Amino acid sequence: MAYNLLNGKKGIIFGALNNLSIAWKVAERAHDEGAEFILTNTPVALRFGELDELAQKTGSIVIPADATSEKDLETLVKKAMEHFGGKIDFILHSIGMSMNVRKGNPYNELNYNYLMKTLDISAVSFHKVLQVAYKLDAINEWGSVLALSYVAAQRTLYRYNDMADAKALLESIARSFGYIYGRERKIRVNTISQSPTRTTAGSGVKGIDGLMDFTERMSPLGNATSDECADYCVTLFSDLTKKVTMQNLFHDGGFSSMGMSNRAMAMYNRSLECKDCPDQDEDMMKIED
Ligand SMILES: NC(=O)c1ccc[n+]([C@@H]2O[C@H](COP(=O)([O-])OP(=O)(O)OC[C@H]3O[C@@H](n4cnc5c(N)ncnc54)[C@H](O)[C@@H]3O)[C@@H](O)[C@H]2O)c1
Repeated sequence: MAYNLLNGKKGIIFGALNNLSIAWKVAERAHDEGAEFILTNTPVALRFGELDELAQKTGSIVIPADATSEKDLETLVKKAMEHFGGKIDFILHSIGMSMNVRKGNPYNELNYNYLMKTLDISAVSFHKVLQVAYKLDAINEWGSVLALSYVAAQRTLYRYNDMADAKALLESIARSFGYIYGRERKIRVNTISQSPTRTTAGSGVKGIDGLMDFTERMSPLGNATSDECADYCVTLFSDLTKKVTMQNLFHDGGFSSMGMSNRAMAMYNRSLECKDCPDQDEDMMKIED
């Protein structure tokens, strides 16, 4: 259902690669809500991805940009302002990549060149986007800038590796730049911390299926899907959330506030072969919905 929440709003969406991408869902949803936007990704992603299909569907144009390149970002933002004949209202940063994760390098054996790339692509690029847009005065008052994060910024999750450090930096950038943008321009900057989601980047984390099963059992509302994430992004781009800024907003069905749930405990107990542990509470063996 559409509510016209983004009627007349213009933006830039980074990071749609294919129809599994969270940014893809955000683009579809923003389009339904009346927004116009530029789609962007790296030249390589444009060659291998399916962005033209999304552009056609949403009446958007595609402008290539490597988000680690200030030059590319400057060209992108200038072209966006030319295209729309003025400033934009929203930006989605939906970008993440770690070669250490891809290569399976454990956290105590990081390749530091890869680490610097992880930080540049997954976090510093957010600062670059914000800085370029700030210098070009590209965003309207009460505009909204969002990046996607993950709870590994606060808690250790096995195998998330150096992406955890990148997400911690990303969230810090949202606060630090959010202060300046809020004070000087009345523009909000936030991160959304999303449930694990089966996308190309998400599937790069080994054991994503087990992790998703665990977080599903731990979250009272269950994992948040990418479509639900798109709904949340739309509200944050809309005028209904004007005073929300410098926040990391958990969109995870309650996972981040949980310690242990009945459903997760039941599964854990199952694996303990209960004949060896006779004092175990029988009730805990039931998996509740
Ligand atoms: N999938 C999950 O479980 C999950 C959970 C929480 C947060 N997130 C975050 O959501 C965001 C989107 O990821 P996704 O899961 O939709 O996966 P995805 O693979 O569809 O998207 C990642 C995007 O980053 C782009 N990218 C990589 N390097 C880039 C660069 N130098 N310049 C510009 N773009 C570049 C890729 O081309 C791709 O489009 C990421 O920040 C990710 O960390 C994902």
